[in-house]
Amino acid sequence: MDLGLTDRVYVVSGGTRGLGFAVARALTAEGARVVISGRNAGSLAAAVRELGEPRAAGVAADNADPESPERLVGAAMDRWDRLDGALVNGGGPPVGSVAEVSDDIWRRSFESVFLGAVRAARVIADNLAGNGSMAFVLSTSAHAPIPGLDISNGLRPGLAMLMRTMATGLGSRGIRVNALLPGRILTERTGYVDAGVPKTGVIPLGRSGEPGEFARVAAFVLSPAASYLSGAMIPVDGGATA
Ligand SMILES: NC(=O)c1ccc[n+]([C@@H]2O[C@H](COP(=O)([O-])OP(=O)(O)OC[C@H]3O[C@@H](n4cnc5c(N)ncnc54)[C@H](OP(=O)(O)O)[C@@H]3O)[C@@H](O)[C@H]2O)c1
Repeated sequence: MDLGLTDRVYVVSGGTRGLGFAVARALTAEGARVVISGRNAGSLAAAVRELGEPRAAGVAADNADPESPERLVGAAMDRWDRLDGALVNGGGPPVGSVAEVSDDIWRRSFESVFLGAVRAARVIADNLAGNGSMAFVLSTSAHAPIPGLDISNGLRPGLAMLMRTMATGLGSRGIRVNALLPGRILTERTGYVDAGVPKTGVIPLGRSGEPGEFARVAAFVLSPAASYLSGAMIPVDGGATA
């Protein structure tokens, strides 16, 4: 199947490692071009090199910074003069229970995880061509709480509803909006979460996922091949939420 990604341009925030980088790699392997972001300039430069400079540009940007979305979209326009879609992604919130997490940590997580995604989606939607596609990287916590990840449990369901709201509102412009809900995919973050959260639940496929398995789903959802898919919450979790 041809995904129709050749020469399309996507913003991938949090694209220097983990799920975001895997999606950037899947998109560029299919002929798309990407603007990736991350806070660490060294990792950003290395990721752009690995993806290949002709197909990748990098912007050092923090999702918590209100200017970041404009800078990412500006980079896509300056370099390729078009924008076809975005993976709205970034670092996840800290582990901790409601009883433990301070107001300050809630506020910082909200700024980065929630408001960062809202701002990115707003700016990207304003700049997307018709037939554009946006996908939020959320978590299975949008469906059901994950023990010990209470900030995620609090913020992701709201973003899921925002995604569905935007899918409804933007449909008349031909813009599709979806959410991807990773379960347990092996990245640096998985190591951090494993250290702070008791393991619960069963994965019917009997193993954790690989970033590439998540990325293939994301590349399809972002591509014109998924032209009638919008407003969906798509688990990529080996059946864990089945
Ligand atoms: N992996 C899983 O199994 C899993 C499961 C459920 C949900 N998720 C969610 O999926 C998202 C990606 O997870 P991951 O496993 O790929 O995480 P990861 O391995 O920690 O990678 C996070 C990426 O986002 C960037 N980033 C972090 N904070 C940022 C910020 N404030 N602004 C801009 N970029 C930022 C990081 O680069 P810098 O550090 O240089 O900024 C890196 O490129 C997270 O929101 C996570 O909660 C993951």
